[in-house]
Amino acid sequence: MSVRVISSIKEMHEFSNAVKSEKKKIGLVPTMGYLHEGHLSLVRASKKNADVTVVSIFVNPTQFAPSEDFDKYPRDFERDKRLLEKEEVDVIFYPLSDEIYPENFQTYVSVKDVTQILEGVFRPTHFEGVTTIVNILFNSVKPDIAFFGQKDAQQAAVIKQMVNDLKMDIEISVQPIVRESDGLAMSSRNIFLNESERKDALVLYNSLRYAEELIKRGERDKERIISEMKMIINSAVSAKLDYIDVVESNTFSLVDKIEEGKSYYFLIACRIGATRLIDNILLTV
Ligand code: PAF
Repeated sequence: MSVRVISSIKEMHEFSNAVKSEKKKIGLVPTMGYLHEGHLSLVRASKKNADVTVVSIFVNPTQFAPSEDFDKYPRDFERDKRLLEKEEVDVIFYPLSDEIYPENFQTYVSVKDVTQILEGVFRPTHFEGVTTIVNILFNSVKPDIAFFGQKDAQQAAVIKQMVNDLKMDIEISVQPIVRESDGLAMSSRNIFLNESERKDALVLYNSLRYAEELIKRGERDKERIISEMKMIINSAVSAKLDYIDVVESNTFSLVDKIEEGKSYYFLIACRIGATRLIDNILLTV
Protein backbone atom coordinates (compact mmCIF):
# COMPACT_ATOMS: atom_id res chain seq x y z
CA MET A 1 0.00 0.00 0.00
CA SER A 2 1.26 3.45 -0.87
CA VAL A 3 2.11 5.67 2.10
CA ARG A 4 0.50 9.10 2.31
CA VAL A 5 3.00 11.95 1.94
CA ILE A 6 2.02 15.28 3.46
CA SER A 7 4.06 18.36 2.69
CA SER A 8 1.86 21.25 3.77
CA ILE A 9 1.53 22.17 7.44
CA LYS A 10 -2.18 22.94 6.96
CA GLU A 11 -2.79 19.42 5.60
CA MET A 12 -0.73 17.96 8.45
CA HIS A 13 -2.89 19.84 10.99
CA GLU A 14 -6.08 18.63 9.31
CA PHE A 15 -4.86 15.02 9.31
CA SER A 16 -3.81 15.15 12.97
CA ASN A 17 -7.02 16.87 14.09
CA ALA A 18 -9.06 14.17 12.34
CA VAL A 19 -7.02 11.41 14.05
CA LYS A 20 -7.43 13.10 17.41
CA SER A 21 -11.17 13.50 16.96
CA GLU A 22 -11.30 9.69 16.78
CA LYS A 23 -9.42 9.56 20.11
CA LYS A 24 -6.50 7.80 18.42
CA LYS A 25 -2.90 8.16 19.58
CA ILE A 26 -0.35 9.71 17.19
CA GLY A 27 3.28 8.52 17.29
CA LEU A 28 5.92 10.73 15.66
CA VAL A 29 9.37 9.61 14.52
CA PRO A 30 11.35 12.75 13.64
CA THR A 31 14.17 12.05 11.17
CA MET A 32 16.42 13.77 8.69
CA GLY A 33 15.94 10.90 6.24
CA TYR A 34 18.46 8.53 4.69
CA LEU A 35 16.91 5.94 6.94
CA HIS A 36 18.66 2.93 8.46
CA GLU A 37 17.70 0.17 10.89
CA GLY A 38 18.06 2.59 13.82
CA HIS A 39 15.27 4.76 12.41
CA LEU A 40 13.21 1.71 11.52
CA SER A 41 13.44 0.48 15.12
CA LEU A 42 11.86 3.79 16.18
CA VAL A 43 9.14 3.30 13.56
CA ARG A 44 8.44 -0.19 14.91
CA ALA A 45 8.26 1.16 18.47
CA SER A 46 5.75 3.75 17.30
CA LYS A 47 3.67 1.15 15.46
CA LYS A 48 3.53 -0.81 18.73
CA ASN A 49 2.68 2.11 20.99
CA ALA A 50 0.51 4.42 18.89
CA ASP A 51 -2.52 4.04 16.62
CA VAL A 52 -1.14 6.20 13.83
CA THR A 53 2.55 6.60 12.96
CA VAL A 54 3.92 9.72 11.30
CA VAL A 55 7.58 9.83 10.21
CA SER A 56 8.94 13.28 9.46
CA ILE A 57 11.79 13.72 6.99
CA PHE A 58 13.44 17.12 7.02
CA VAL A 59 17.14 17.95 6.85
CA ASN A 60 17.04 20.84 9.26
CA PRO A 61 19.43 23.64 8.22
CA THR A 62 19.37 25.44 11.59
CA GLN A 63 21.08 22.57 13.42
CA PHE A 64 24.12 22.66 11.12
CA ALA A 65 26.83 25.30 11.55
CA PRO A 66 28.01 26.93 8.28
CA SER A 67 31.19 24.79 8.42
CA GLU A 68 29.22 21.53 8.80
CA ASP A 69 27.82 19.02 6.31
CA PHE A 70 24.28 20.33 5.58
CA ASP A 71 24.78 20.32 1.79
CA LYS A 72 26.55 16.98 1.85
CA TYR A 73 24.07 15.31 4.22
CA PRO A 74 22.76 12.19 2.40
CA ARG A 75 19.25 12.45 0.97
CA ASP A 76 17.18 9.86 -0.92
CA PHE A 77 13.47 10.41 -0.49
CA GLU A 78 12.34 7.63 -2.84
CA ARG A 79 14.44 5.06 -0.97
CA ASP A 80 13.13 6.31 2.40
CA LYS A 81 9.57 6.15 1.10
CA ARG A 82 10.00 2.54 0.00
CA LEU A 83 11.40 1.57 3.41
CA LEU A 84 8.54 3.31 5.21
CA GLU A 85 5.95 1.73 2.95
CA LYS A 86 7.31 -1.66 3.96
CA GLU A 87 6.91 -0.71 7.62
CA GLU A 88 3.33 0.37 6.86
CA VAL A 89 3.65 3.83 8.34
CA ASP A 90 0.57 5.99 7.96
CA VAL A 91 2.10 9.30 6.92
CA ILE A 92 5.44 10.73 5.86
CA PHE A 93 5.57 14.39 6.82
CA TYR A 94 7.95 15.87 4.26
CA PRO A 95 7.69 19.61 4.72
CA LEU A 96 9.10 22.25 2.43
CA SER A 97 11.92 24.35 3.84
CA ASP A 98 10.15 27.59 2.83
CA GLU A 99 7.15 26.69 4.92
CA ILE A 100 9.19 25.66 7.95
CA TYR A 101 11.49 28.67 7.84
CA PRO A 102 9.76 31.44 5.88
CA GLU A 103 11.66 34.67 5.24
CA ASN A 104 10.41 36.45 8.38
CA PHE A 105 11.08 33.51 10.74
CA GLN A 106 12.30 34.85 14.10
CA THR A 107 11.48 32.42 16.91
CA TYR A 108 14.03 29.98 18.31
CA VAL A 109 13.72 27.69 21.31
CA SER A 110 16.77 27.13 23.48
CA VAL A 111 17.44 24.96 26.49
CA LYS A 112 20.09 26.24 28.89
CA ASP A 113 22.49 24.07 30.87
CA VAL A 114 22.26 20.61 29.32
CA THR A 115 23.11 22.09 25.90
CA GLN A 116 26.37 23.63 27.13
CA ILE A 117 28.36 20.44 27.67
CA LEU A 118 29.74 17.73 25.34
CA GLU A 119 28.19 18.30 21.86
CA GLY A 120 27.34 21.86 22.89
CA VAL A 121 31.03 22.70 23.28
CA PHE A 122 31.90 21.47 19.78
CA ARG A 123 28.62 22.47 18.09
CA PRO A 124 27.49 25.59 19.98
CA THR A 125 24.50 26.37 17.75
CA HIS A 126 23.36 22.79 17.17
CA PHE A 127 20.85 22.20 19.95
CA GLU A 128 18.97 25.46 19.42
CA GLY A 129 18.36 24.28 15.86
CA VAL A 130 17.22 20.88 17.12
CA THR A 131 14.82 22.18 19.77
CA THR A 132 13.40 24.75 17.36
CA ILE A 133 12.66 22.19 14.62
CA VAL A 134 11.39 19.60 17.11
CA ASN A 135 8.93 22.23 18.41
CA ILE A 136 7.79 22.98 14.87
CA LEU A 137 7.37 19.25 14.18
CA PHE A 138 5.47 18.75 17.44
CA ASN A 139 3.19 21.69 16.61
CA SER A 140 2.64 20.43 13.07
CA VAL A 141 2.03 16.75 13.82
CA LYS A 142 0.59 17.05 17.37
CA PRO A 143 1.95 13.69 18.54
CA ASP A 144 1.00 12.01 21.80
CA ILE A 145 4.33 10.20 21.83
CA ALA A 146 7.61 10.91 20.00
CA PHE A 147 10.49 8.51 19.47
CA PHE A 148 14.21 9.30 19.61
CA GLY A 149 17.33 7.13 19.56
CA GLN A 150 19.72 6.70 22.47
CA LYS A 151 22.65 7.19 20.09
CA ASP A 152 21.90 10.91 20.36
CA ALA A 153 21.65 10.61 24.14
CA GLN A 154 22.30 14.31 24.76
CA GLN A 155 19.69 15.30 22.18
CA ALA A 156 17.16 13.06 23.97
CA ALA A 157 18.07 14.69 27.31
CA VAL A 158 17.69 18.19 25.82
CA ILE A 159 14.30 17.32 24.32
CA LYS A 160 13.07 15.78 27.58
CA GLN A 161 14.16 18.94 29.41
CA MET A 162 12.31 21.13 26.91
CA VAL A 163 9.13 19.04 27.04
CA ASN A 164 9.23 19.14 30.81
CA ASP A 165 10.00 22.85 31.13
CA LEU A 166 7.43 23.93 28.55
CA LYS A 167 4.75 21.57 29.97
CA MET A 168 4.21 19.87 26.64
CA ASP A 169 1.74 17.00 26.81
CA ILE A 170 3.97 14.64 24.82
CA GLU A 171 5.63 11.45 25.95
CA ILE A 172 9.27 11.09 24.88
CA SER A 173 10.34 7.52 24.24
CA VAL A 174 14.06 6.79 23.88
CA GLN A 175 14.94 3.55 22.10
CA PRO A 176 18.20 1.56 22.30
CA ILE A 177 21.10 2.07 19.87
CA VAL A 178 21.00 -0.22 16.84
CA ARG A 179 24.44 -1.46 15.79
CA GLU A 180 25.98 -3.13 12.76
CA SER A 181 27.01 -6.77 13.39
CA ASP A 182 30.55 -5.62 14.32
CA GLY A 183 29.28 -3.04 16.79
CA LEU A 184 29.41 0.23 14.84
CA ALA A 185 26.40 2.35 15.79
CA MET A 186 24.12 2.89 12.81
CA SER A 187 24.24 6.41 11.45
CA SER A 188 23.30 8.06 8.16
CA ARG A 189 26.84 9.46 8.11
CA ASN A 190 28.48 5.99 8.05
CA ILE A 191 28.23 6.01 4.23
CA PHE A 192 30.93 8.70 4.18
CA LEU A 193 33.51 6.25 5.61
CA ASN A 194 35.91 4.62 3.17
CA GLU A 195 37.05 1.04 3.70
CA SER A 196 39.91 1.75 6.09
CA GLU A 197 37.93 4.42 7.96
CA ARG A 198 35.05 1.96 8.37
CA LYS A 199 37.51 -0.36 10.17
CA ASP A 200 38.93 2.50 12.23
CA ALA A 201 35.41 3.58 13.24
CA LEU A 202 35.14 0.46 15.40
CA VAL A 203 37.39 2.10 18.00
CA LEU A 204 34.37 4.06 19.28
CA TYR A 205 32.42 0.94 20.20
CA ASN A 206 35.54 -0.97 21.29
CA SER A 207 36.50 1.76 23.73
CA LEU A 208 32.97 1.87 25.16
CA ARG A 209 33.00 -1.91 25.58
CA TYR A 210 36.36 -1.62 27.31
CA ALA A 211 34.92 0.94 29.72
CA GLU A 212 32.16 -1.57 30.48
CA GLU A 213 34.75 -4.26 31.06
CA LEU A 214 36.76 -2.03 33.43
CA ILE A 215 33.62 -1.13 35.41
CA LYS A 216 32.79 -4.84 35.66
CA ARG A 217 36.29 -5.48 36.99
CA GLY A 218 35.72 -2.91 39.73
CA GLU A 219 37.52 0.14 38.30
CA ARG A 220 35.87 3.32 39.61
CA ASP A 221 38.44 5.95 38.69
CA LYS A 222 36.87 7.98 35.87
CA GLU A 223 40.15 9.47 34.63
CA ARG A 224 41.81 6.05 34.50
CA ILE A 225 38.92 4.61 32.49
CA ILE A 226 38.95 7.57 30.08
CA SER A 227 42.69 7.33 29.59
CA GLU A 228 42.38 3.61 28.68
CA MET A 229 39.57 4.47 26.27
CA LYS A 230 41.71 7.18 24.67
CA MET A 231 44.47 4.65 24.02
CA ILE A 232 42.00 2.55 22.02
CA ILE A 233 40.77 5.58 20.07
CA ASN A 234 44.32 6.73 19.33
CA SER A 235 45.22 3.31 17.95
CA ALA A 236 43.23 4.18 14.80
CA VAL A 237 45.21 6.36 12.39
CA SER A 238 42.21 8.25 11.04
CA ALA A 239 40.67 8.95 14.49
CA LYS A 240 40.70 12.42 16.07
CA LEU A 241 38.91 12.57 19.38
CA ASP A 242 36.61 15.48 20.24
CA TYR A 243 35.66 14.20 23.69
CA ILE A 244 35.10 11.25 25.97
CA ASP A 245 33.16 12.04 29.11
CA VAL A 246 30.72 10.66 31.64
CA VAL A 247 27.33 11.97 32.76
CA GLU A 248 24.96 10.71 35.40
CA SER A 249 22.07 9.19 33.47
CA ASN A 250 19.12 10.87 35.23
CA THR A 251 20.45 14.41 35.42
CA PHE A 252 22.68 14.25 32.34
CA SER A 253 25.29 16.28 34.23
CA LEU A 254 29.03 15.63 34.06
CA VAL A 255 30.52 13.74 36.98
CA ASP A 256 33.96 13.60 38.60
CA LYS A 257 33.34 10.38 40.47
CA ILE A 258 31.76 7.07 39.63
CA GLU A 259 29.63 5.85 42.51
CA GLU A 260 28.05 2.51 43.34
CA GLY A 261 24.36 2.09 42.59
CA LYS A 262 24.24 4.81 39.92
CA SER A 263 23.92 4.71 36.13
CA TYR A 264 26.12 6.66 33.78
CA TYR A 265 26.40 7.41 30.10
CA PHE A 266 29.94 7.15 28.78
CA LEU A 267 29.92 9.31 25.66
CA ILE A 268 32.32 9.74 22.77
CA ALA A 269 32.54 12.08 19.80
CA CYS A 270 35.31 11.35 17.37
CA ARG A 271 36.21 12.31 13.84
CA ILE A 272 37.15 9.41 11.60
CA GLY A 273 38.79 11.14 8.66
CA ALA A 274 36.32 13.86 7.72
CA THR A 275 33.31 12.13 9.30
CA ARG A 276 32.25 13.02 12.82
CA LEU A 277 30.71 10.11 14.73
CA ILE A 278 29.16 9.88 18.18
CA ASP A 279 28.39 6.88 20.34
CA ASN A 280 27.66 6.06 23.97
CA ILE A 281 26.94 3.27 26.43
CA LEU A 282 24.74 3.24 29.51
CA LEU A 283 26.43 1.50 32.42
CA THR A 284 25.03 0.76 35.84
CA VAL A 285 27.70 0.49 38.53
O1 PAF B 1 18.10 13.18 15.32
C1 PAF B 1 17.80 13.74 14.24
O2 PAF B 1 17.75 13.12 13.19
C2 PAF B 1 17.50 15.22 14.23
O3 PAF B 1 18.30 15.91 15.12
C3 PAF B 1 16.01 15.55 14.47
C4 PAF B 1 15.57 15.12 15.86
C5 PAF B 1 15.16 14.84 13.42
C6 PAF B 1 15.78 17.04 14.35
O4 PAF B 1 16.13 17.52 13.10
